[in-house]
Amino acid sequence: MNYRHSFHAGNFADIIKHAMLLLVMEELRAGQAALRVVDTHAGRGRYDVGGADASRSGEAKVGIGRLAEAGDFPAAITGLRTEIAKLNPAGGIKIYPGSPELIANRLRQGDSYLACELRAEEHSVLANTMQGRAGVKTACVDGFQCAAELSAFSGETFFLIDPPFERADDYAQIARTLRLVAQRSPGARFLIWLPLKDLETFDSFVRSIEDICHGSVIIAEARMRPLADPLKMNGCVLVLVNFGKEIEAPVKDLISWVVKTLGENGEARVWRP
Ligand SMILES: C[S@@+](CC[C@H](N)C(=O)[O-])C[C@H]1O[C@@H](n2cnc3c(N)ncnc32)[C@H](O)[C@@H]1O
Repeated sequence: MNYRHSFHAGNFADIIKHAMLLLVMEELRAGQAALRVVDTHAGRGRYDVGGADASRSGEAKVGIGRLAEAGDFPAAITGLRTEIAKLNPAGGIKIYPGSPELIANRLRQGDSYLACELRAEEHSVLANTMQGRAGVKTACVDGFQCAAELSAFSGETFFLIDPPFERADDYAQIARTLRLVAQRSPGARFLIWLPLKDLETFDSFVRSIEDICHGSVIIAEARMRPLADPLKMNGCVLVLVNFGKEIEAPVKDLISWVVKTLGENGEARVWRP
């Protein structure tokens, strides 16, 4: 396990994932039922985008750093900017929120959040950051295994699946987790992040989940540039499972805006397989 999210925090893919997570949490919070959120790959909770790792990669600088120059934000980006401002009361962007921070801030009384992180050092920072937050538990465990073993829940269950994709079997693990959860909790909802390098890998993943999700999938595809070089991360994809049609328009607004603002001859597509 070499992956360190601190190199990538605040890049274009984080902006899309985190703004979309806020849209999803908004929809989930509108329901009456108690909500259980499971974050299979939680990371450390917050990231120092002024620190050495982020400075070395430069990804935050050309991602979240460029948001300050842009105007006319879609609603989801405004939500993310508000969360960033809360963490940086003196102004600027030094601390950037990860998924745990964003989720924990949106829990209602009676909701719960389980944040899984396998790497011990990352988990230790996560546990400190989340300490004392109502409804929040962290676990230093394999998130795929944990999701597969969770028992059914009487309220609403939502899984965020955001692996590092440093292992060749991450795609297969996601499909397996979806299958196992769907057998027990058919209504469970998912937001899954994928890198977009070449179309072949992406298409084969979509085919692998079609029979599990039976028409309940929305694909939000942000191509930041034409997919000419399969060795580069040319964009990212967010897969939503068991969400209604209403979320499609704000999702399209969000990814179109990020592609237009941060991409080079890119394209944004929202579609159902
Ligand atoms: C892309 S980062 C997560 C970022 C986080 N979801 C966010 O949005 O702030 C992936 C994380 O998964 C962790 N990880 C890798 N394999 C894992 C596994 N099998 N179970 C849980 N965590 C894992 C890595 O250490 C890394 O911190």
